[in-house]
Amino acid sequence: MVLDALIKIKNEIDPSLTFRRSCREGICGSCAMNINGCNGLACLTKIESGSSETTITPLPHMFVIKDLVVDMTNFYNQYKSIEPWLKRKNPPPTAGKEIPQSKKDRAKLDGMYECILCACCSTSCPSYWWNPESYLGPAALLHANRY
Ligand code: SF4
Ligand code: FES
Repeated sequence: MVLDALIKIKNEIDPSLTFRRSCREGICGSCAMNINGCNGLACLTKIESGSSETTITPLPHMFVIKDLVVDMTNFYNQYKSIEPWLKRKNPPPTAGKEIPQSKKDRAKLDGMYECILCACCSTSCPSYWWNPESYLGPAALLHANRY
């Protein structure tokens, strides 16, 4: 995977190379970057067999802190702005007790809870590039759509 190559470079060639990673299995979303022109997760992107060169750049149109690490502050603030948590209109009938969710209600979330907030979608969207202060971007809107 591309992440393995980056780790090898950091360990054996240039310890100053800076990138985010944590889970190594597509769960944490921290290794998002642009690989050969497409945004993706380095830990899930294979190095093409036979290819002699892979071009890796930070997520597009984001402020770069160092190497492949971009400033995610605006992205996270946008996520926070949609208040992505469940809020009841009325107090729960049994305060302090678990409120079971029906299988039917749970199924309504399919396709809307899997987002790992990697920012690959938002940072590949031209509307997001030009209006990051006013356009929430697909990731935040997906979360808003759940409710
Ligand atoms: S919806 Fe966007 S931010 Fe969420 S996992 Fe998919 S590409 Fe990443
Ligand atoms: S290291 Fe967690 S998604 Fe790649």
